[in-house]
Amino acid sequence: MKLGVINVSDRASAGVYEDIPGKAAVSLLEEWVTTPFKTAYAVIPDEQDQIETQLRQFVDEESCTLILTTGGTGPAVRDVTPEATEAVCEKMLPGFGELMRSTSLRYVPTAILSRQTAGIRGAALIVNLPGKPKAIRECLEAVFPSIPYCIDLIGGPYLEVDSSKIKIFRPGP
Ligand code: MTE
Repeated sequence: MKLGVINVSDRASAGVYEDIPGKAAVSLLEEWVTTPFKTAYAVIPDEQDQIETQLRQFVDEESCTLILTTGGTGPAVRDVTPEATEAVCEKMLPGFGELMRSTSLRYVPTAILSRQTAGIRGAALIVNLPGKPKAIRECLEAVFPSIPYCIDLIGGPYLEVDSSKIKIFRPGP
């Protein structure tokens, strides 16, 4: 099983900022997921065509089952991660963004500024997360319970987790 993490950030990709958000997303996956997996990893600038190319590569060539993006979800001119996600996906899952925003509003009023979304390309689920490490955990904790079942439904591998760290939900028959 391969999982992808893409930190979308002009400053991190230029080496001005340390790549903390991408590492935060990887460490959450390592903490929760017990199915053995490899990580595909990239740090790229906020350029829509580069984000699209990276997403296509992680899905079509690296066969990632799940791709988490961090950053570029806000209202600023350079924030284009949701647009790139939508451009490469066959199907959108707006519930992910809705749940992440409503959960995040318990922490910060500016949660409404994030346009984060999720969608399906082939047998891969792509989920946008904001760029702040604290926000990454807050958002991923909210939606992760539904991710393994979503991957089942799109024909991906059976993803298992450490239930003492995170609870997931698979509906019964
Ligand atoms: N969500 C949570 N859970 N915690 C946060 O601190 N910050 C918000 C929002 N969502 C935040 C959050 C802010 S201030 C912005 S601008 C947007 O995410 C977009 O962040 P991004 O551009 O880094 O993706």
